[in-house]
Amino acid sequence: MNKETYIIKIDPENMEEQLAYAGKLLSDGKTVAFPTETVYGLGANALSESAVDAIYEAKGRPSDNPLIVHIARLDMLDELAEEIKPYAKILMEAFWPGPITFVVKKKAHVPYKVTGGLETVGVRMPSHPVALKLIDLSGVPVAAPSANLSGKPSPTDVKYVLKDMMGRVDCIVDGGDSHVGLESTVLDVTGDVPVILRPGKITREMIVEIVGACEVDPALDNKSEHDLAPKSPGMKYKHYAPDAQVSVYSGDRMTVIKTFYNRIIEVIESGMSIGVMIFDEDALVLEKLLEKDEIFMRSSDKLHLMREGSSKELDTFARNLFKDLRKLDEVGVDVILVHGVSENALGHAIMNRLEKASEGRVFKI
Ligand code: TXA
Ligand code: MG
Repeated sequence: MNKETYIIKIDPENMEEQLAYAGKLLSDGKTVAFPTETVYGLGANALSESAVDAIYEAKGRPSDNPLIVHIARLDMLDELAEEIKPYAKILMEAFWPGPITFVVKKKAHVPYKVTGGLETVGVRMPSHPVALKLIDLSGVPVAAPSANLSGKPSPTDVKYVLKDMMGRVDCIVDGGDSHVGLESTVLDVTGDVPVILRPGKITREMIVEIVGACEVDPALDNKSEHDLAPKSPGMKYKHYAPDAQVSVYSGDRMTVIKTFYNRIIEVIESGMSIGVMIFDEDALVLEKLLEKDEIFMRSSDKLHLMREGSSKELDTFARNLFKDLRKLDEVGVDVILVHGVSENALGHAIMNRLEKASEGRVFKI
C-alpha cells in the first residue's frame, strides 16, 4: 500500500479551520487517524462499507473484529441504535463524553462490516476536543479502531501512528498525547445488567456506584474453568504484544524488587539487554541494590528502567504503559519485566493489557 498521507499538526487556536479538510476526507469515504483521550483512532465513515474496508486494509486486521463507532452528539446515537435501556441512558449521561463504549442493538442500516456480523454496535462519544470537532465537521458517525498495525500496542503518541500508518491512510491528525493511555471500557448494555467486555478507565466500581450493578464477562479474565469465547471478539486476538518477552510479577513489594534484581543480573550476564517497568519508589530501592553489584556496574547500559509514577496512583502507569512497551521495543531489549498491580479499579484494565502483552506470563510471587 502506498497512499499519500496528509499530516495536520493541530494548533488549538485555529483547530476548526485545520480540521475542516480532515472532516471532508471522512465524509468522502477516506481514512483519517486522529487523537482521542484513550488512544489514537483510525477513522472512516461507519455507514460506508468501502470506507470501512479501507480501515481493515490499513490495519491488516481480520474483518470479523467489530469496530467502535464514534459520535460527537447524543442525537447521532439515534441513527445507530435500535433501543437504549433506561439504565444505559443514565450511564451515558454520567460518562459521556469519555473513555467508555456502549454495546447496543444496532439499526438495520449499520453495516455488518462494522459490527463484525453482530446485531449489536459499539458506540462511543470521546472527550478529546480534536476528536469531537473532527466527527462533528465530518457529519458522519466515525468507525475507528486503535491506529496501530494489528498486533502492535495501541498508539498514545502520534509518533507511533506515523510509524505504523504513513502511506497506509489518507490523513493523520497530530493532536498531542492521549492522556488516558488505555483503550475505552467496553460495556454491553443490551441485557438487564451491564457487563464489562473490556476493562478500562471507567471501572466496574464507578458503574456500580451509579446503577447499582455491573458484571464482568467471565471469558475476559480467563478465570473460568471452561475455555469461554470472549463476547468482545477483539479480545481473542494477540494484542498489545511487543517484540521482547514480557513477564509480569505481582506480590510483596520487596520480593518483587529482589526478583527484578536477580533477573537483571542473570539477563545481563548472558549478554542480553533488559527493560524494567517499575514504580518510582521501588526504582530507588532497586538502584541502590544494583549500585553495589560489580556485574551490573560493568554493563549498566544493558538496563532500561522505566518509571511508572507512584504505586498509589495508577493513572501514570496506565498512561505510559503502551508507550513504554513501544520505547523498549525501539531500544531493542530482549526481556521486559513489569511490576503487576492488584486487579481492582484501574488495576483491572492494566492487568488485562499486561496479560496480553506477556502472553500470560503473569507470576504471583
Ligand atoms: O478507546 C478506544 O476504544 C479506542 C479509541 C480509538 O476509541 N478504540 C479501540 O478500538 O480500542 P479497537 O477496534 O482497537 O477495539 C474495539 C473493541 C474490541 O475489543 C471489539 O471486540 C469491541 O471493542 N467491540 C466493538 N464492537 C463490539 C460489539 N458490537 N460487541 C462486542 N464487542 C465489541
Ligand atoms: Mg486495538
